[in-house]
Amino acid sequence: MAKLLLVGCGKMGSAILCGVAPSTEHIVVVEPNGVDDVPLNVTLVSSAEEIPPSFDPDAVIVAVKPQVIPKVLPAYARFKSSVFLSIAAGQTLLRLSEVLGNPAQSIVRAMPNLPASIGKGMTVAVANKSVTSLQLALCEKILRTAGEVAWVDDEALIDPVTAVSGSGPAYIFALVEAMARAGERLGLSAELASKLARQTIIGSGALLAQSEQSATALRQAVTSPGGTTEAALKILLAEKALPDLMLDAMQAASARAKELSS
Ligand SMILES: NC(=O)c1ccc[n+]([C@@H]2O[C@H](COP(=O)([O-])OP(=O)(O)OC[C@H]3O[C@@H](n4cnc5c(N)ncnc54)[C@H](OP(=O)(O)O)[C@@H]3O)[C@@H](O)[C@H]2O)c1
Repeated sequence: MAKLLLVGCGKMGSAILCGVAPSTEHIVVVEPNGVDDVPLNVTLVSSAEEIPPSFDPDAVIVAVKPQVIPKVLPAYARFKSSVFLSIAAGQTLLRLSEVLGNPAQSIVRAMPNLPASIGKGMTVAVANKSVTSLQLALCEKILRTAGEVAWVDDEALIDPVTAVSGSGPAYIFALVEAMARAGERLGLSAELASKLARQTIIGSGALLAQSEQSATALRQAVTSPGGTTEAALKILLAEKALPDLMLDAMQAASARAKELSS
């Protein structure tokens, strides 16, 4: 990766910086609060005005909060031949091109999730028509440093994507909390119930990552007929239970994502 400009180096920006720094020639990072442990190939500045005038990035990675985009982005409009890679939630391709004042600007909109901060993310991206195949490959390479990447052609799909993988980590954390609370109600100490719930999710995730089997096959493998797991799953997977509840929850998330981006 040749030259990158990273605008915003908070939680997500610093994860992206860690991922891309080893394989990039030169990165300029704009971050008003400073950054700890800046690698040698990184120039840190606190505002767009301090970017070296000769710096001509292949990609401008936008990792600031969505609400500051209209104020922050116009200062980067001069990078017309760069691809803008935005991870700002709810900021559509059209809105980004309007803020940049250039309908022909190459822009990729990506939706990462929280595990991207440890390189285990799931990012879904969509490109506008101006993005070249080289720019697409560069964005894919950048995003891959934070985990798995999938592309969609239809930007409207970013709303259901947000409901599945964007908000998904919170559903898993809520499951840990619910399992721990239920364990306590069954007589375990709060500490033990919390440890069991947490490690069960960690271990099951790791197993899912290692195994070639589907989640359904893994579930079936631990469910003996007439056993304890089956007794629990009869309740969890019943009509109006977990699958219907998950659908309701994700429909709400997707609808809210649509509202926030319109
Ligand atoms: N965190 C997630 O799980 C997640 C998931 C999907 C998408 N995203 C998206 O990722 C983006 C970044 O989220 P985050 O959680 O990393 O936020 P964050 O930790 O607040 O990072 C944003 C950073 O940008 C800085 N900043 C503000 N104004 C700036 C400017 N003019 N130029 C350069 N930097 C500036 C902020 O400084 P101040 O704090 O001083 O304002 C902050 O350090 C958001 O758009 C969000 O929607 C995040």
